[in-house]
Amino acid sequence: MKTKFRFLRMKHYCSYLVVLMFLSVCGMSASAQNASGQKIQVVPMPVKEKVNAGAFTLTSDVKIIIPDGNKEVETTAQLFSEQVSASTGLSLKKIGSAGTNGKSIRLILNKVQNNAIGTEGYVLNVKPSGITINANKPAGLFYGVQTLIQLLPSETGQGGKINSKSWNIPCTEITDYPRFGWRGLMLDVSRHFFTKEFVKRYIDQMAKYKMNVFHWHLTDNQGWRIEIKGLPELTRVGAWRVPRTGRFWTFEAPQPGEKATDGGYYTQEDIKEVVSYAQKRFVTIVPEVDVPGHSLAFIASYPEASCTHVKYAVNAGFPHGDEDLVLCVGNEDNFKKLETIFSEVAALFPGKYIHIGGDEANKDNWKKCPLCQKRMKDEGLKNEEQLQSYFIKRMEKILASKGKKLIGWDEILEGGLSPDATVMSWRGVEGGIAAAKEGHYAVMSPGQYCYINSMQGELNIEKVYAGGPTIRISDVYNYEPVPDGVDSKYILGGQGNLWGEFVTSPRLAEYMTWPRAFALSEIFWTPKEKKDWNSFVPRMEAQLKRFEKEKVNYAPSVYDPAIVPVKDKDGNMQLTFKTELNDLEVYYTFDCTFPDNFSAKYQQKPIDIPTGASEIWATTYRNGKPIGRLLVIGINELKGRLGK
Ligand code: ACM
Ligand code: ZN
Repeated sequence: MKTKFRFLRMKHYCSYLVVLMFLSVCGMSASAQNASGQKIQVVPMPVKEKVNAGAFTLTSDVKIIIPDGNKEVETTAQLFSEQVSASTGLSLKKIGSAGTNGKSIRLILNKVQNNAIGTEGYVLNVKPSGITINANKPAGLFYGVQTLIQLLPSETGQGGKINSKSWNIPCTEITDYPRFGWRGLMLDVSRHFFTKEFVKRYIDQMAKYKMNVFHWHLTDNQGWRIEIKGLPELTRVGAWRVPRTGRFWTFEAPQPGEKATDGGYYTQEDIKEVVSYAQKRFVTIVPEVDVPGHSLAFIASYPEASCTHVKYAVNAGFPHGDEDLVLCVGNEDNFKKLETIFSEVAALFPGKYIHIGGDEANKDNWKKCPLCQKRMKDEGLKNEEQLQSYFIKRMEKILASKGKKLIGWDEILEGGLSPDATVMSWRGVEGGIAAAKEGHYAVMSPGQYCYINSMQGELNIEKVYAGGPTIRISDVYNYEPVPDGVDSKYILGGQGNLWGEFVTSPRLAEYMTWPRAFALSEIFWTPKEKKDWNSFVPRMEAQLKRFEKEKVNYAPSVYDPAIVPVKDKDGNMQLTFKTELNDLEVYYTFDCTFPDNFSAKYQQKPIDIPTGASEIWATTYRNGKPIGRLLVIGINELKGRLGK
């Protein structure tokens, strides 16, 4: 199991070999609509929605009415009017609740609590004469506004100004609230650094789809990205590595004397700016400082922090040899350093959780280290798993002294869980199940559904080799976060994780995230009973139109053909195709020419391979128009897949 999930993430250098091995073998239901056919297409699907006759027309004299003296609601109204103005050219005025004449969009904080909708829910009512959004708390008004934006024509995006349009919003009644309180996305900024501007853009996008936790993976073997004033070497040394281009797993080790010029970090002022940006969008940031493993950037900065004290450079790609990636648990000075780090981190991030990593700590050096062995003896610890648990418990005490709660990857279960820890389940769902059975909270992010660094389509099309196996958007959509037999009160929610080994650019980060994060947003927000792939598809596609206007990148993999070799009754290979959307047609050739809709059409039954054919080329069409990308794959490669 462990190896399999390491493969998914490929954080460990052994995965490098696995990558090479892998490469070498290598009708939709209607959205809610009214009698005149007006539709609404909202992601995530609201709890209750009804479309009525008629529409509200947005014009420049519409006012946004907000409660007096509430800063958060005022900010929500401001963000709304900025977005409307960028898209439509209309500048809506915000006014206090006293001036109520004329057509308005009214954001109302309930005086009498509506218990059905909790702290993040809202009731949205669109009538020709006006729009109201009611909520118990400002977060609910923010989410109501996000829904309202999705009711506007899909041209409405930050960059999509179209002045000639009528801005009609269908009359609607929506009551909505989330299934889970933790609806997250994780971005790894260690393997490749992303600027604060990009991080803000990423947070803005997730918030529009009602995701509310941004897990910021700030440290790892390939870079330390957060300024710690008490330990300046962490960013002076640890934030920089030698520049390399190409495939991450082929990156060469630093050469003697070579300058480390690639990287970057966030100053504490940058962090404050991002935190404030996120707060305005009701996104809580969970910072991660990954210890005691994944610590080479730390160790490169302070070599005395490892058991071996050897001076290494920050990794350019995967570890290049036998670098010691793990902090020494016997060295008391490390706990002083960690106290400094977590004090500064706690002061910067207002959320209650801090993520301490805790994953994939190689214990070999602990076995050989006199200080680690002495610690085990002094503390009566029987094995290195218990030494790890000792380390995590001390982290929990440090965090508790700053008023924070500890969350860590599921390895923190090994050797005994700290009293108040929350577990992030990644090596499948077992960590979440074990945590819940012990009465601890869990956040579900199992590798096989939630690792959005994995490819999302056929390798031969995708080319972005971002870790296998493929996790398609329909796989993500089918994930149910509460495991069978587990008390749902222990499942805080879940998140998608974008590990950054192969994510070299902001455009690629968006490509990997979207549209799969639409599926994540729906599985963490929408009631289980309302989940429906056929209803999701057109709603997802409506968002893709917005993304095109907003110039947000996304993967079109859902439109591609996927090929599946099968055996006939005599054991000969035949080929079948699958598509994630049921209204796609697949066309193919065996003569190494581009297929189009005059080529052979896949008839939903296995195809025989003509004698001598060496490749199959295939693509998809929808309603007579090309839509998918070209798949080219060798017959021998398919035979290799069949053998597995
Ligand atoms: C992980 O993927 N090592 C949490
Ligand atoms: Zn040690």
